[in-house]
Formats: sequence, C-alpha cells, structure tokens
Amino acid sequence: MQVRTERPQTPGEFLADLRREVERHPAVNHPLLVRVAHVPFTREDYGVLARQHYALVGMFTNYLERLLRTAPDSRAKQWIAKVLVDEYGEGSDGKDHAELYREFVAAACGGLDLLEVTPLHTAVTDFVEAHLRICATEPFLVGLGAIGPGHEWSIPKMFGLLLRGLARAGFADEEIVYFKLHVLQDQDHGRWLEEALALYAVEPEACQQIRRGALLSLEARTRFWSGVQRKIVRWRQPANVHARTQSARENYDESREITLQTFRHKLAKSARNTT
Ligand SMILES: [Fe+2]
Ligand SMILES: [Fe+2]
Repeated sequence: MQVRTERPQTPGEFLADLRREVERHPAVNHPLLVRVAHVPFTREDYGVLARQHYALVGMFTNYLERLLRTAPDSRAKQWIAKVLVDEYGEGSDGKDHAELYREFVAAACGGLDLLEVTPLHTAVTDFVEAHLRICATEPFLVGLGAIGPGHEWSIPKMFGLLLRGLARAGFADEEIVYFKLHVLQDQDHGRWLEEALALYAVEPEACQQIRRGALLSLEARTRFWSGVQRKIVRWRQPANVHARTQSARENYDESREITLQTFRHKLAKSARNTT
C-alpha cells in the first residue's frame, strides 16, 4: 500500500486559496451589492449609503498607521508604508482618499451638511472599533490579514458591483473617482501586501493568524453592508409600521446609534486614555 504524506502548502498556495475564499465570502457578494448592480437605486439611496460608508473611509489610514507600529521588521513596514503613501494622496493628485470620498458625498447628498450629524448604524461604528482593536492589539499577522486580504483584496470586487449601480443612477465619472480609483489602486495595494504576507505565511500558525484576520474583517463587513441596507430601507419608509415591526424582530436597538461627530470624540477620548 502506498502511503501518501500531505505536503505542507507553500506560501503561494496558501495565499491563492485565501484569495478564492475572500472572493467567495458573503461580505464580498452581499445581497445589497448584488442588488445595486442589478436594480435601479436613486441618488438619494446612494446618499444614505455614502453617509454611513464615509465613517469607514476616514479611518483606514489609522488602521495602517497602527499596523506600521506593530510590524516586526522593516521589510513589512516598507510594504505598509507604500500603501499609506497612496492613501495620503500620492496616486490621486494629492487628494487623500477621505477628501475624494467627500466629493462623492457632496454629489450624492447635495452637500456635506449632514455628514457629521447623521446617526450611524451600530454595525458601522462596530466595524471601525473592531479594526482599531485588531490592528493595535492582535498579533501583527491578524492585522495584516484584516487589511490585506480583508480590505485590499475584497474592495475591487465590492466596488465593481457598486460602480455598476452608480453608473445606472447617473453619477458622472468625476463624481465617483473614489470608487474608480480603488478598483485600480487596490489591485496594486493587494499585491504589495501579498508580498509582505508571502514573507510570513510559512508556518501553519502564521497562516491561521492571517486567515483569522481576513475573516474577522469580512464578517464585520457583512454586518456593515446589512446595516447600510437597513438604513436605506428605513430612509425609504421612515414612518412605516412594517419597518418598525421588522426592526423589533431583528432586535436592533437604534438608541445605541451615535453620529460621526460623537464617534470621533469617543475614539479620541479612548486614545487619550490608552496613552
Ligand atoms: Fe483608500
Ligand atoms: Fe487600498
């Protein structure tokens, strides 16, 4: 009888498997994204999405900066720093990505007036807090998994679906630069972080940490898109009894929602307390 011994996966094989897992994940193929790609949504619907999503956009550099501090050596720091430089605006005419996103918010909402004072779904604030925690307190590879596979690999696919809807809703190219830029730029970012991951994805424990970070991020992302979807439904039917009943069934507590302004104060306060 021939005995087959399982050969351990190479870093390249592990990362290829993980990429497939990310692309098939429910967060990347969330019903909201599939719907916007195939069903007409109005500019106002995208305005609701934009005010929720902006809270995430403004925090991404913060995750990377935290990761830069926990990176074990200068090789990993170099790859993370390359992505950060782009996020600060290197590849987008000096406009950082939050600034680009505000241009989309202005186009979708007719201005920025409500951006700081709109109540955020708790899945939005939970998403940010989870990533701040992962990038500051989990082992470095868990953080790199959340930011590389969890963000940079998944975003081109998610934004590809969004872009189909945005075009159908009549947004001009210059109003959706943020999304178009990320479909291209995140392919580079994903590759750069993959180079960093390949340095470490040698031992099974390291691979487990990378995968755990990716899945933690994507699970938070699934809840985020569901939260955005709920906000769009609520906006369309503000006084609808059915929506209230549904909300009771979901056991969702709107009184836990806070605005972006309050959220920033909360994060600044907790940062002061931990330094
Ligand atoms: Fe970005
Ligand atoms: Fe990116």
